[in-house]
Amino acid sequence: MDYKSVIAQNLSKISGLTEDQIFKLIEIPPQKDLGDFAFPCFILAKSLHKAPAMIAEDLASEASLTSDGVFTVKNAGPYLNFYVDRSKYASDVVSGINKYGDAYGSSDLGNGQNVIIEFSSPNIAKPFHVGHAFTTVLGNSLSRIYAKLGYNVIRMNHLGDYGTQFGKLITAYRLWGDKDALDKDPITELLRIYVKFHEEAKKDESLEDKARENFRKLEEGCPEEKELWQKFRDMSLVVFNKLYDRMGVSFDNYNGESFYSDRIPAVVDMLRSKNLLVESEGAQVVMLDEYNLPPCIILKSDGTTIYASRDLAAVLYRDETYHFDKNIYVVGTPQALHFKQVFSVLKKAGYECADDCVHVGFGLVKFKDMVFSTREGNIVLLEDLLDAAVNKTREVIVENAKARGQDMSEEEISDIAEKVGIGAVIYTYVKAGREKDIVFSWDEMLNFNGNSAPYLMYTYARIRSIARKAAEAGITASTDKEVLGRLTGDDAYAVISALAGFGDVVKKAAQIYEPFVISRSLFETASAFNSFYNNTRILGDDISKEDSASRLALCEAVGNVLKSGLGLLGIETVERM
Ligand code: ARG
Repeated sequence: MDYKSVIAQNLSKISGLTEDQIFKLIEIPPQKDLGDFAFPCFILAKSLHKAPAMIAEDLASEASLTSDGVFTVKNAGPYLNFYVDRSKYASDVVSGINKYGDAYGSSDLGNGQNVIIEFSSPNIAKPFHVGHAFTTVLGNSLSRIYAKLGYNVIRMNHLGDYGTQFGKLITAYRLWGDKDALDKDPITELLRIYVKFHEEAKKDESLEDKARENFRKLEEGCPEEKELWQKFRDMSLVVFNKLYDRMGVSFDNYNGESFYSDRIPAVVDMLRSKNLLVESEGAQVVMLDEYNLPPCIILKSDGTTIYASRDLAAVLYRDETYHFDKNIYVVGTPQALHFKQVFSVLKKAGYECADDCVHVGFGLVKFKDMVFSTREGNIVLLEDLLDAAVNKTREVIVENAKARGQDMSEEEISDIAEKVGIGAVIYTYVKAGREKDIVFSWDEMLNFNGNSAPYLMYTYARIRSIARKAAEAGITASTDKEVLGRLTGDDAYAVISALAGFGDVVKKAAQIYEPFVISRSLFETASAFNSFYNNTRILGDDISKEDSASRLALCEAVGNVLKSGLGLLGIETVERM
């Protein structure tokens, strides 16, 4: 465990502050003679009615008692300074990680509780663009993080597979649909006829009536309409699933909007029986003034249901089916108001599960030095982005291999390019806080020396290559506490400090729904490791066996954390690149 957390825990017992308060106040002193960590005592002056320097003096002796010998504590003015026993720290952290291998970071915190993570949720018959990839990457990562923490994760894809637009599609397909084109490239064909519908409807108003009629038939379950809708849905899913497979994403179910449509009358009855439905301009709404929100529309004036009512039905279904501990929606920030309204209606209707529903929003996707032919209107398709990233990556891999005189088969190059290229795209989505807009740029994404997936993956591959060389030389990583205790140099200490925080990082990422907490920690770890690696010999005749074995163990620990952490982001590692 991170010593900073240990200090916070110990100090909270003797100071009356919470662990969290202390954790935030702990500093890393600017000079080494002031210790590895420091706690400023000013905050306690008021409650203890004493000068900070006196408090520091009193606490120093108490804190020493609780330190278990992992650090010594000295007071200096208003500060408590903690001096870590680097030997013990190194052997604790490194053996603690290597014992678990790349499963490191797992815990049973979640105790098998059900957490629903709803993500991706594209609209069928529409192209899958780079915005859908944002929710897909975030949701996939959060699913992996929660699963690692021992929660039972239910991955749901709330497909946009219902609504009046399907009346339009059915109408359009009957008039202008091309079966061969549909079989070949379903989404392009469906988009073509959808666009055509809107053009033609401007000239011929009866088309809208036909569309409404066809949607009504669909809602009533008429076989011909249902069959066409099912076909559009199935074909769209084939296209989406190809992308999901490529990105290593899977779902437990695809209960989209259509799934909930026949549960809406029950929602309406429930709201009516609780006297929450009010008529407003012909529509049925729930007033939400007390939450400072606009009314939530439940039924439109023509009696048809809408997006929000389907979401209400969905929460109630999930509550019944899973008794969820948390119900998380990974959906763009523009829908924040919608979710506030849905959760507030439930709250008003007395459902406690409303408090366990969370909307996890995210920003927009932009491009810097990339141009895409936007085949489908003004949007960039995920498939095009992935293909471009893989092709660019392949160029770099081929070049690097040539420069290093590496001999790689065509097959190996393709495999590496696919994994690194897709990793580079995924990483861009989780490289900064999710609420920020993200900017795709080749320079940053494929910078093998910067904060990028290729950099982290390369660091991992380098570690694997060291391990292979070591094996050839008959040296293995040490598991011996005493040998590991040799890792006390500044460079090693920096790596160990970065590694030590990983377990807390995974928990923090779950707590604030931010995979970015993990990407940041991995980048710190890899940077510290690369400095260590550049300054330290690991193998060779001129260093002792013990030094080699301890340094190899540190390499292994870094490799384990990188693999575990990248996995949590949804990025695969490669053994060589
Ligand atoms: N299909 C919607 C869209 O593409 C997102 C659905 C979000 N989830 C939900 N439960 N409303 O905008």
